[in-house]
Amino acid sequence: MMDMTTHDHAPIAVFDSGLGGLTVLAALHRRLPSESFVFFADRARVPYASLSPALITRYACESAGFLSEQTPKAAVIACNTVSAVALREVEGVLKVPVINVLHPTAAAAARVTRNKRIGVLATNATVKRNTYSVVLNELVPGVEVTSQGCPLLVPLVEEGWTEGDIPRLIVEHYLERIQTAKVDTVVLGCTHYEYFREHIQHAMGGAVSLVDTPAATADEVARHLGDSRRASDRPGRIDIYSSDISDALYRVVESLFSDHSIVTINPVSS
Ligand code: DGL
Repeated sequence: MMDMTTHDHAPIAVFDSGLGGLTVLAALHRRLPSESFVFFADRARVPYASLSPALITRYACESAGFLSEQTPKAAVIACNTVSAVALREVEGVLKVPVINVLHPTAAAAARVTRNKRIGVLATNATVKRNTYSVVLNELVPGVEVTSQGCPLLVPLVEEGWTEGDIPRLIVEHYLERIQTAKVDTVVLGCTHYEYFREHIQHAMGGAVSLVDTPAATADEVARHLGDSRRASDRPGRIDIYSSDISDALYRVVESLFSDHSIVTINPVSS
């Protein structure tokens, strides 16, 4: 099929502070293989969650500004921390529809829970904002939300250290309160935590559902695009920009994308 308009042809912008957002990008590419994506990881300044809300907002708006220059048709905030702290400000910078990871994730959790007890693993900045709790309470009146900050997990991912006993023990430590709360659903409320999905599922047991943020976000983006989907039977391009390039970035990209010929990795200063 032929491409219809230049607008349809425009890429979808996606950004995160680091490697976590790539799990969302991979799900977007699986769900919308004809679309082109431009991704920015602000790895020079990760983790955002240890910064003040003012600085998180400034960095997020700068990332959004860079992506805005690529004239996307839509944008995805693949970072829960930015979604919780700086959503309105980022929407103000990007003059296109903006989909964030937090709301589709909360909606998916609301659909899944049966006992109305939901655990949220997130960065301390996201936990402090209480956004998951507020949104989940709107969707599931009477829901009991147990939130846990996990500050060591983002640095471990950026270091490329997600396997083995040490990450497993750290994950188990962070899960203690959530296990006691008898939740039936767990939200991985930071896109970096996707890399610990197996450890988390193993520690929580098979009866507990882990919400799939990348898939829920990709579904939401597909719904939003409607008629402005790119109609082509050829795969779209994936241009990845990062404010710091390292082996961990190459390794993650290699493991997440099978067709490397459509992917480029480019340095950019932040
Ligand atoms: N992936 C980001 C999130 O979803 C990590 C935030 C950070 O850099 O601290 O919250």
